[in-house]
Amino acid sequence: MLRKEQNDLLTQTGPDTPFGRMFRCYWIPALLAAELPENDCPPVRVKLLSERLIAFRDTNGCYGLMDEFCAHRGVSLWFGRNEDCGLRCPYHGWKYDVTGQCVDMPNEPEQSAFAKKVKLSSYPLVERGGVLWTYMGPPASQPPLPEYEFAMVPAPQTYTSKRWQECNWLQAMEGGIDSSHVSFLHRGDINTDPLFKGARGNQYNLGDLRPVFEVVESAGGLFIGARRNAENGHYYWRITQWVMPSFTIIPPRGNHSVHGHFWIPIDDETCWAWSFDYHPTRALTDEELTAMRAGKGIHAKVDGNYRPLANKDNDYLMDRAAQKAGRTYSGIEGFAMQDASIQESMGPIVDRTKETLVSTDSGIIMARQRLLRAIKAFLEQDVMPPGVALEHQRVRSAAVVLPPDQPFKDAAREALIAHPGVAPASV
Ligand code: FES
Ligand SMILES: [Fe+2]
Repeated sequence: MLRKEQNDLLTQTGPDTPFGRMFRCYWIPALLAAELPENDCPPVRVKLLSERLIAFRDTNGCYGLMDEFCAHRGVSLWFGRNEDCGLRCPYHGWKYDVTGQCVDMPNEPEQSAFAKKVKLSSYPLVERGGVLWTYMGPPASQPPLPEYEFAMVPAPQTYTSKRWQECNWLQAMEGGIDSSHVSFLHRGDINTDPLFKGARGNQYNLGDLRPVFEVVESAGGLFIGARRNAENGHYYWRITQWVMPSFTIIPPRGNHSVHGHFWIPIDDETCWAWSFDYHPTRALTDEELTAMRAGKGIHAKVDGNYRPLANKDNDYLMDRAAQKAGRTYSGIEGFAMQDASIQESMGPIVDRTKETLVSTDSGIIMARQRLLRAIKAFLEQDVMPPGVALEHQRVRSAAVVLPPDQPFKDAAREALIAHPGVAPASV
């Protein structure tokens, strides 16, 4: 449970809010590289951390992300003409380059140098791992580009999708670090989804509904260990990584690809759920890629605006017969929309003064504490928050079976670090 002011602090990320300022310490995913597929292609509206922006790719292939609205009289540059190394406002022809600098003002006298004085606020936009990343903080504090493993492996080994989620980022992210819901909400899919089925670990998941959580602080966030009973008194450990502010890696299953999420606030009542699947040592197969594109695993079927086809306007295509028969636990199909439906059902910003937390919520409780502590240190002492440093990002999740006397974080220490070319620890 949180006090109202704590809930406000953690859920508000606009430019002038405390957490909004801290969120702007990180490189965050802004759009898929595929959304700007070629030079001079149509610009794309991007709303992030409550700021309305426009992204475009110029004639030379440089990416720009800047204020959506023309400095002249506020026209949305989504209507702009992307031509000759700049985006031109269609109202009176003012033109901006990828840094937001106005480079032409064709409705002013030819000798006027006023264009030089006009610049839209803008942010860097850089491709890595099929994702366009931006950094929206003060330029002097800009960290090096992110090095999450999914974005660093060769392109054939990784796949990323995104979907629009109609609730605050925090309740979505909290679903990602709450591994106890998997044995309930997702139980119908663990043994049937092509990207999950067949792993030995699945049986431990389904066979022990009361995992014991052990949550340990990591340099960048938390190791969230969920312990379930295996054979001969051994324990099956699923260790999720949470890296601040909102990056998670779900523990692997068998030889399947490894997946995880980023939750990025669009504004305080909606967010992007980014979902990636990668394998550290092999290319994804055609079957896997076909399944991912079809919305299997943690991905979703979406429309042209990345809104899921199953959404709150159609009750997420609730299937009561499947729910009754146990084919799905909640009646909703697929991991992604099972998660999104229950998270959106809490309302746009869940009231955390009214919740009833129990022992299996310890990951969520510690993540909130960690965030609150980091915001305080950042605001009061200018301390750079966890998760900005590259070594905090070079981590992995793991699934292991251990004897009962071995603490997971010691036994799996190396498995929790991303060593390029080394296979993940998986059961
Ligand atoms: S409003 Fe954009 S040029 Fe006039
Ligand atoms: Fe889930």
